Amino acid sequence: MAAHKIICWDCGKVIDDVYADTCASCGGLLTIKMDLEPLKNMRPKDLHKTPIGVWRYAPFLPADPMKKVSIHEGGTPLYDCSALGNEIGIKDLHVKYDGANPTGSFKDRGMTVGVSHASEIGAKVVGCASTGNTSASLAAYAAKAGMRCAVFLPSGKVAAGKLAQAMFFGAKVISVDGNFDEALNIARKLSEERSLYLLNSINPYRPEGQKTVLFEIMDQLSYNVPDRIILPVGNAGNISAVHKALVELEEIGWITEIPMLTGIQAEGAMPIVKAFASGKKDFIPEEHPETVATAIRIGNPISGRKALKAIYSTGGCSVSVTDAEIIDAQKLLGRTEGIGVEPASAASVAGAKKLVDSGIIDRNEKVVCICTGNALKDPDTIISSCAPPVRCSKDMDEIRKILSQ
Ligand code: F0G
Repeated sequence: MAAHKIICWDCGKVIDDVYADTCASCGGLLTIKMDLEPLKNMRPKDLHKTPIGVWRYAPFLPADPMKKVSIHEGGTPLYDCSALGNEIGIKDLHVKYDGANPTGSFKDRGMTVGVSHASEIGAKVVGCASTGNTSASLAAYAAKAGMRCAVFLPSGKVAAGKLAQAMFFGAKVISVDGNFDEALNIARKLSEERSLYLLNSINPYRPEGQKTVLFEIMDQLSYNVPDRIILPVGNAGNISAVHKALVELEEIGWITEIPMLTGIQAEGAMPIVKAFASGKKDFIPEEHPETVATAIRIGNPISGRKALKAIYSTGGCSVSVTDAEIIDAQKLLGRTEGIGVEPASAASVAGAKKLVDSGIIDRNEKVVCICTGNALKDPDTIISSCAPPVRCSKDMDEIRKILSQ
C-alpha cells in the first residue's frame, strides 16, 4: 500500500483517529497526503500492465490492492463526441461516461477504496447519507465485503433505480423526513457515536478513489491535457477529488498544465455558483434546495470550500443551469451520441452549452464533460419528459398508418 497520512486540509495537523471526519483541533476538513516519491521515477505507461480501472492507479491510492474490495470499477469509456460538439459549438468535445461503472455511477470509484479501507480497519457496519447513488454503491460494496450497511435517504426524493439498488443489495434503507443535508447530519452523529463507519465523501479515503477518473482521462487522451473539465457539483466531493489528482500529477511531473475545472450546479441548488460569483472562498448554505436533478439537490455541500479552491486555482468557473436546460442536454446527448445519463450528469453538458453561448468557452477548446450517472437510475424523469408510447391494436393497417406518420 502506498504510504500516506490523514491530515487536516485547513491546519495541516496529522490526524490519527481513523473514525474522525473533521479535525479535532480546528474543525477543518480532512484530506490524505500521499507519499508520491516512488511515482517520481515512473512514467504513466509503467502502470499499463494493469488493465485500465481504479486499481491501475494503486500507487496513488491509500489502500492495499492485494486486499481490495472490488467489483471491477472504473475503466469507463471516454467518448469523442463530435456530433454533440457540432450541436453545442465545441470542436473537440469528449464525454467521460462514468455511468458505465458497476452500479451505474462514479461513486464506485470512491467506494472500492473506501470499503477496502473500512475492511482493513475492521469496520463491521458502514453507512452514508445519500441522494441515491452513494447509497446504491455503498450497498453493493458492503454486500461484497460481507458488512452490514445503513443508508439515510431524503424521503421521496431519491430516483427509483437508486432506491431499488440500495434495497436490492440488502442495506437497511432509512427514509428521512428531511433533505440530504439533514440526512447527512444524522449519519454523521451515528458515526461520531461509532455506530457506523461513515462513507460519505467527507471520509478522506473515498475521494482518493474518485481521483482515478482524472487519471483515466489522462491515459485515454495520451496525456494531451484538455483545456477544461466540466463536472456537476452536488456535495462537491468529486470536483475536489479531480483537483487533488491534478495536483498530484503535477507534483510528480507527469503534467505541466492544469485544465480549468468548471463546476455546474442546478439553479435551485447553487451555493457554490453564488460564492464563485461574489469571489468568496466559502459559501452560504441554502436551506431549501430543489431540482429535477435530485442527485445534486444539496444546499450545504460538505466539500464546498475544497471545490471553490479547485475552481479558483485552476482558472475555472462555476455556473448554474435550469432544470429545463438539464433535460434538454440529457436528450441532446442521448439523441446525438447514444449516451444515456441521469439528469445530474447532464448538467455538465448543459453547462458546456451555456458557457459556449455566453462566450466563456472558446469553440477551439479541448473539453471533457464528466457524466457521472447512468440514465436508468432515473427512468421516471425520462418517461415524463419524452413522448409516450403510441398505443395500437394488433391491426396491421393501423400499425402501418402509425409508422407512416
Ligand atoms: N452526479 C451524480 C450522478 C451524483 O450522484 C452526484 C452526487 C453528483 C453528480 C455530484 O457529485 O456530490 O461529489 O459533487 N451524489 C451524491 C449521492 C450526493 O449521495 O449519491 P459531488
